[in-house]
Amino acid sequence: MPSASITIDSNAAVAEIDRRIFGAFVEHLGRCVYDGIYEPGHEQADENGFRRDVTALVKELGATTIRYPGGNFVSGYRWEDGVGPREKRPVRRDLAWHSLENNQVGLNEFATWLKEVDSELMLAVNLGTRGILEALDLLEYTNHPSGTALSDLRAEHGYPEPWGVKMWCLGNEMDGPWQTGYMTADDYGKLAARTGQAMKAAEKDLELVICGSSGSAMPTFGEWERTVLEHAYEHVDYISCHAYYQERGGDLDSYLASAADMRYFIETVVATADHVKHRRKSDKTIMLSFDEWNIWYLDEHHESDEVNDEWRIAPRQLEDVYSVADAVVFGSLLMTLLENHDRVRSASLAQLVNVIAPIMTEPGGAAWRQTTFFPFSVTSRLARGRVLRPQVTTASVTSKVHGENAVVDCVATAGDENAAVFLFNRGREAVDVTIDVASLGRERIDEAVTLWDEDVYAKNTKDDPERVGLKPLDATLAEGQLTVRLEPVSWSALNLA
Ligand code: AHR
Repeated sequence: MPSASITIDSNAAVAEIDRRIFGAFVEHLGRCVYDGIYEPGHEQADENGFRRDVTALVKELGATTIRYPGGNFVSGYRWEDGVGPREKRPVRRDLAWHSLENNQVGLNEFATWLKEVDSELMLAVNLGTRGILEALDLLEYTNHPSGTALSDLRAEHGYPEPWGVKMWCLGNEMDGPWQTGYMTADDYGKLAARTGQAMKAAEKDLELVICGSSGSAMPTFGEWERTVLEHAYEHVDYISCHAYYQERGGDLDSYLASAADMRYFIETVVATADHVKHRRKSDKTIMLSFDEWNIWYLDEHHESDEVNDEWRIAPRQLEDVYSVADAVVFGSLLMTLLENHDRVRSASLAQLVNVIAPIMTEPGGAAWRQTTFFPFSVTSRLARGRVLRPQVTTASVTSKVHGENAVVDCVATAGDENAAVFLFNRGREAVDVTIDVASLGRERIDEAVTLWDEDVYAKNTKDDPERVGLKPLDATLAEGQLTVRLEPVSWSALNLA
């Protein structure tokens, strides 16, 4: 049986954990909002129409920050439609997803719900079809305490307290030809600079995210980042990264090595941002907001008739059902974000409910956890303190798309109360792993769980919602040495007390 040896040095810290790394994303898309988190007629609905069972699952998931309201949707959105008396709110066409938006949920309802789930709100402004003035208006309505036209309007709408939103995205995927109002890098860079300058003139402590490329496969990847940052460097704090992965053509080995692509993506954006920093002789370092990441069977989505000529409210769109293989790759992506946490300071799992989501619901029916729910909830719950980058000695596996990669990946965290170790076995055989954890000074294993199955394509579905779950992990700890058996194609976590 293959083996691996790992040393975790408590001094090899990557960064203090910013809880924003465990963010998620809610877009007005398909059944994410309507018939997802919000379903007023449901027996579980609270007084605001939000489903209590979904709220409980979102809390269990541990999503710390939620990006809202899009995504592609934001590029056609008028935020004013979603505030004030509900009966007066208009129904509009959403061109991004070819559906109807009835605006029954808007900023205030969503921000109120976020208090319930104890998550921070991260807002996106529309720079596709709107501009600086509308962004400033939304900022005033959202954050200004009182005594101005729009802050008083918010109070009139029943929300006297400002929402205090700190993190703002300057548009969404503005390089994508699918984006309503997409732009060249020069045009967008100039608009982002002017919008950022104006928003910070209103509130200097805002944290602004400029759009990076909508994927590392975009033809302008790299050059887009350089150009937009040349224009806007001093006015923004983060640059966004978006990445979705899927198994293609039955090539499971390449799929299991997807984290290699995410590493390449992060390294390239960091290098480009730092190149601009040095050219400008700036003291500021731009951080990465990986504000869309997940598994998404995007090729199948493009081929499907999910988007047809009908105009419907909350159609079923992007409702991918995830397997064990999807979940372990997903777990490895989250480990990669942690491993690069010195620069990836914020991230958003895209998305939260029904739409490429860890949580699924049926209208009038149940809510359940997809396979991807588990790595996210466990990592968000256990990762505390600092991220540590372990030294891993292991064999490698070769895949067609991503070349050679270590069989086992590992990342660890250490806080005042606990230490946690996260492991991914991308190989097709079990691996015995010895981990030197002496420097962590922990005495016992408090929790040891693994996600794996003899059928890597097993899924949780409406009819069998608990087919896949966490299993106990075979592990012992003695004299600072942790020994663990990792099943093939598995993701695992240990909590050390
Ligand atoms: O998350 C689904 C979509 O993916 C988002 O709307 C868009 O930003 C990205 O292309």
